[in-house]
Amino acid sequence: MEAVVDALDAFLQTRVQQQEFRPLGLATGRTMEPLYAALCERLRAWPTPHLQWLREHWCSFNLDEYVGLPAGDPRSFAAYMQTHLTGPLDLPSNQVRIPDGMASDPSSEARRYSTALRQAGGIGLQLLGLGSNGHVGFNEPPSGVDSPCRVVTLQAATRIQNADAFGGDSEAVPKQAITLGLQEILSAEVIHLIVTGSAKAEILLAALLEPSTDLVSASWLQQHPQVHLWVDDAAFAR
Ligand code: GLP
Repeated sequence: MEAVVDALDAFLQTRVQQQEFRPLGLATGRTMEPLYAALCERLRAWPTPHLQWLREHWCSFNLDEYVGLPAGDPRSFAAYMQTHLTGPLDLPSNQVRIPDGMASDPSSEARRYSTALRQAGGIGLQLLGLGSNGHVGFNEPPSGVDSPCRVVTLQAATRIQNADAFGGDSEAVPKQAITLGLQEILSAEVIHLIVTGSAKAEILLAALLEPSTDLVSASWLQQHPQVHLWVDDAAFAR
C-alpha cells in the first residue's frame, strides 16, 4: 500500500503547489481500508499550511452508495467514508460527495450527482477496487463502456461479497445502488486500480487479458490511457 500512498501523496502535493484541485474519485470496500489508514497517516504528517489548504479545497466524489441506507447508517458508504477518511483528516463533510441513498427518486439523484461531478470538472484521479464479478464501482455486468451514472440492481454475487457489513446476511444487503458509470470513470485523467487477495486473481486476469466486454466491467479499463495497477502477490498468483 505504501507505493499507492506515495502516488496519491505526490498527486495531492502537486495540487497544493499548483493551487488547483480537480476532484478525486473515491472507492469503498475492504481493499481501501488499509490504503485510507496509510494515506491519513501520511497526510497528517504534511506541513500544517499544506494540510490546511488541502482541507479547504478538498473535493471528492465517491463511486457509489446503496439505495435505501441513510448516511447515518453505519453500513452506508457515507458512514464508511466518515470513519476512514473524512473524520481522521477532519475534512469538510460537504466536500466529500456521495450519492444520496435516501433520495425519493434515485434515478434523478444519479443524474444530479453526475451533473455535479461534471460541473466540478470531472475526475482527476480515480481510485478503484475490483468486485468478484469484475465490477468497478457498482457497474454490474453487463455494463457498457458508455454507461452513465445510474441506479443498478446488485447481483447475488455482489450481495454475498458485501454481506460482511450486514452481519453476514446477503439478504440484508440492499438490492439497488447508485453508481458512477464507466462513462464518468473512464473520463478520469488517471486511474489507480487496487486488487488484493487470491479471490480476485481469476477475474483480474480476465479483466486484463480478455478482450474488453460488457460482461467484465473492469475490462473496459484497457481502453484508458493511464491506469496504474496495484496488486498483491495473492491476486497475481495465477
Ligand atoms: C464493492 C464496491 C466497490 C469495491 C468493490 C470491492 O462492492 N462497490 O467500489 O471496490 O466492491 O470491494 P472489496 O474491496 O470489499 O473487495
